[in-house]
Amino acid sequence: MEEKMEAFEARALESLQTVETLEALDAWRVMYLGKKGELANVLRGLSQVDATQRPRMGQLANDVRDRLEHAFGERRSLMEDAEREKREAAEAIDVTLDARTRAIGAPHPLQFVIQKIEDIFVGFGFTVEEGPEVELDYYNFEALNLPKDHPARDMQDTFYLSPDVLLRTHTSPVQARTLLRVENNQPFRIIVPGRVYRRDDDDATHSHAFTQVEGLVVGAGIRMSDLKGMLLSFAREMFGADQDVRLRPSYFPFTEPSAELDVRCIYCGGSGCGTCKHTGWIEILGCGMVHPRVLEMGGYDPQVCTGFAFGMGVERVAMLMYQVEDVRHFYVNDLRLLRQFSGLAR
Ligand code: PHE
Repeated sequence: MEEKMEAFEARALESLQTVETLEALDAWRVMYLGKKGELANVLRGLSQVDATQRPRMGQLANDVRDRLEHAFGERRSLMEDAEREKREAAEAIDVTLDARTRAIGAPHPLQFVIQKIEDIFVGFGFTVEEGPEVELDYYNFEALNLPKDHPARDMQDTFYLSPDVLLRTHTSPVQARTLLRVENNQPFRIIVPGRVYRRDDDDATHSHAFTQVEGLVVGAGIRMSDLKGMLLSFAREMFGADQDVRLRPSYFPFTEPSAELDVRCIYCGGSGCGTCKHTGWIEILGCGMVHPRVLEMGGYDPQVCTGFAFGMGVERVAMLMYQVEDVRHFYVNDLRLLRQFSGLAR
């Protein structure tokens, strides 16, 4: 009886190892541990056993049953785990998205040039101002000594929203706005980057919308030599330490005297080439001493304060620096052009 039970246990355990599915496991249980199974059979055989041996045999049989049930339980949870893992693997959905690649942008060449100009003038103690693109006729013309019938208005025809409201033709109205804002003849230095508009037929060198940087310095004893010295320093920082500038007489109603500033041609170094039309010089801005009338209209006393102003064409400078031959390239956002500027360091 004892050996029989041992053999039975060994067989049952061995068979359990080969069970691979939950159904087969159920069948195994019925076969070995069920009411009509082998163990029940063995227990029934106990009645044949000698009465003195019976309790021990009964105990033995119970132990075998406990061990087999324990083994069964372990096998089942093992298989259930495996089955669940299999099911989960089959049902698994990858809910993660590929990371979005982000194209790294770059400053637009015009923006880059503005930034560079700003950096230089901020280094000279200027602050950066802005003004509205939709401007009053008063600030754009009137307050700059260009009354309604002034012939110089013809060169700056623009888009009118009403007889008194227009798209500004230059950044100079911010001169008038700042003079009016600052009081008591206080000195200041500002630069004003911004977009301006004119009635113009677009071609390689003209655009109905373009960009300027205005500069204005006001204070006691400001002289034309200050204007020239500062613009020379600017040109050297912007285009190179060996730069040179020259002033040519010009006319603006809001400055007196007025001038255009040329820099030495950065292509030929001054010997003459196609870009500078064989003059060796290239014009980059208009400038002059602030007209006393403009100071007056701005609430400044021209006996106490003088000043100088300049207005730079940003496209002009950018075309020069990067050899861009058509101003329209700056506005159409052609990636083939913009990508060429992605390496510009800030
Ligand atoms: N506003 C002038 C222009 O658009 C440039 C300028 C600015 C000239 C300041 C003198 C002083 O052409």
